[in-house]
Amino acid sequence: MGIKDIPKTIWWGENEETGRPAVFLIDQTRLPLQGDILACNTYDGVCLAIKSLAVRGAPALGVAAALAVALWSETEGAAIDDPNEYLNRLVEVVDEIASARPTAVNLRWGAERMRQLAFQNADMPLDELRALIVQEAENMIAEDEERNRALGAFGAELLPEKAKVLTHCNAGSLATAYFGTALGVIFAAHDQGKIEHVWVDETRPVNQGGRLTAWELRVAGVPSALITDNMAASVMKNGWVDAVIVGADRICANGDTANKIGTYGLAVLAKEHGIPFYVAAPSSTVDLTLPDGSQIPIEERDPREIEGVTVSGFFEPDSPEAQRAFDALTAKGPYAVPLQKGHQLVIDRKGAAYSFDGWFRMTPPGIEVYNPAFDVTPGELVTAFITERGVITPEPDYEMALAVRCMGCGALHELDLER
Ligand code: MRU
Repeated sequence: MGIKDIPKTIWWGENEETGRPAVFLIDQTRLPLQGDILACNTYDGVCLAIKSLAVRGAPALGVAAALAVALWSETEGAAIDDPNEYLNRLVEVVDEIASARPTAVNLRWGAERMRQLAFQNADMPLDELRALIVQEAENMIAEDEERNRALGAFGAELLPEKAKVLTHCNAGSLATAYFGTALGVIFAAHDQGKIEHVWVDETRPVNQGGRLTAWELRVAGVPSALITDNMAASVMKNGWVDAVIVGADRICANGDTANKIGTYGLAVLAKEHGIPFYVAAPSSTVDLTLPDGSQIPIEERDPREIEGVTVSGFFEPDSPEAQRAFDALTAKGPYAVPLQKGHQLVIDRKGAAYSFDGWFRMTPPGIEVYNPAFDVTPGELVTAFITERGVITPEPDYEMALAVRCMGCGALHELDLER
């Protein structure tokens, strides 16, 4: 049991069924009770995975965007011989991928990086350019892990011995190519024997905390307990939290930070209880084009995330009769059980067992729902930003662009964001 047992989130490979390149990813909508791997054979398949949250978390979205551009280049793009036509279409594809979700800036960052690479090398023969694009996208997987390990090491230094930490949503390995941001800090501190306990917010409505963070911490052997979001105030008041550490989807020039809905409330609570509030994110999450958080586009999601619960899992029939009945139901593929009142249940054969995916309404039909996926925490509520280049502490007149307090040497370094 350890961090090494958490699977990789996303990778490039060859689909054995088609003999063609594909992007592979763990379907996070069904974790932890089903561990399906999705093979995306086209870039719009990756876009669909992004929109449906099969792959999610800002740094993972950056990598997914780059791999999606590479996949386009190796499929539809491979049929284009004219360099101008290739580049023009690439620009359209980059834009389409970058628009799949609005809030995490890493998505555009990852796609744009591919566009820039293509235009910088526009005089190359197309075959070579395509190979370069694939190589760069694959490099970004390794780079993302390196960044997370670096920021994890910086963040671990901020924590006291026997630290009791609270985290929100999933800024873990699954939200990145590997290792995690907020959880990267926790994993690094755990390796140093510094973590006594982690409180995991369930993170309604999609439960990334309850499903993903709780699972990662358990796999990695980090002592932790799951709480509902409305319990955070109480555990803070009891003196059971030394630090709050969260990830980020976009950090503006003044430090205003978009992160999973509920983060702002935690920052206010942390201030009230005198608890440091840390944001851990790679520099690819910093958006210096936005002076403050008022212009961050906040994604609104399907009301059904609030109106009901989604469940996924496996079962094995307990008798030959049941086995025959389920075999008959699923003989032609997934079987949608005809349920009343809008509930949904689909059963499918999975090897010797069966999987089920369901959605069950909990609320009165026809109610109005507001479902923003993110909120913005004002920069002044953040004690420090933990990046792969060092820890940025709010100094008088600081700007994300200017100051990085280096944990290595203690000096202020200029933050040179390669955007
Ligand atoms: O909607 P999601 O799951 O893509 O949301 C992103 C997040 O997981 C969080 O906001 C996270 O804390 C920042 S990404 C490491």
